[in-house]
Amino acid sequence: MDTKLLANDFTLEIRGLDLSKPLDDGLFEKIRALWMEHRVVVFKDQTLDDDTLVGFAERFGPLFVHAQSSLLSAKRKEVMELSNLPDAERRTVHDLDWHTDQSYTPKPVFATMLYGVVAPREGGETHFTDLAGAYASMPDALKLRIEGVTAVYSAEPRPKVRETPLTEEERAQIPDCTHPIIRTHPYLGRKAVYLSPLHMASIGDLPEEESASLMAALTAHATQPAHVYRHVWTEGDLVMWDNTSVMHRRTPFPPDMPRHLKRAGFYLPDELAVPF
Ligand SMILES: [Fe+2]
Repeated sequence: MDTKLLANDFTLEIRGLDLSKPLDDGLFEKIRALWMEHRVVVFKDQTLDDDTLVGFAERFGPLFVHAQSSLLSAKRKEVMELSNLPDAERRTVHDLDWHTDQSYTPKPVFATMLYGVVAPREGGETHFTDLAGAYASMPDALKLRIEGVTAVYSAEPRPKVRETPLTEEERAQIPDCTHPIIRTHPYLGRKAVYLSPLHMASIGDLPEEESASLMAALTAHATQPAHVYRHVWTEGDLVMWDNTSVMHRRTPFPPDMPRHLKRAGFYLPDELAVPF
């Protein structure tokens, strides 16, 4: 196994592993530790199908199944299809603003994995920003404004947030929820600012305008180039990230540029059931 730090040091590239085959316990634990330390890991040159992707993911914790059934793989419901290919049931064609996955649920998914089946030749990158680094470098005045404060998260805080709008039934299953803005890593004890601009509806009891300006200030701080890693997709990449410690976005791409990623994710194990 060869490792290399990528831009801004919070992302680790790993080569020389075949994740379609079972890993021994020692190697698996080493990968888990490296992933949590670096927050984002890029495994290169993988050949995975839905079963082997799920097989790797489920060793980490209970698997996540997305609420939007039209996006799930016909083969394995734990795999979500992000595809603009003609055979996609729901085509994914738009960019997506900064967010953390499932922040609008009481127990957000701990980790997300994306596997590159068809990589776009232009655009459609996935960018990550280091929320632990952003907390560490945050000016004290900004830190003070969020100490002990919670935010309200919503699956659709504003119209047209979702490329695939929720059905009424799906919406009814996802009531708004609140989370602290500063969260502590469940294994490492390190603090991070918890943000999801796409889903944050309001902060504390602040009036709408003040809430929006604080959200903008936190996002501007967290997404400075010093905290960002930009992933340009190559087929066979498996990228895995820690939603307690990074947020991500998808950049625009031409609608006729083929792009197909598969997504899986897992929750914290039951013994760490309190996620914040
Ligand atoms: Fe996402």
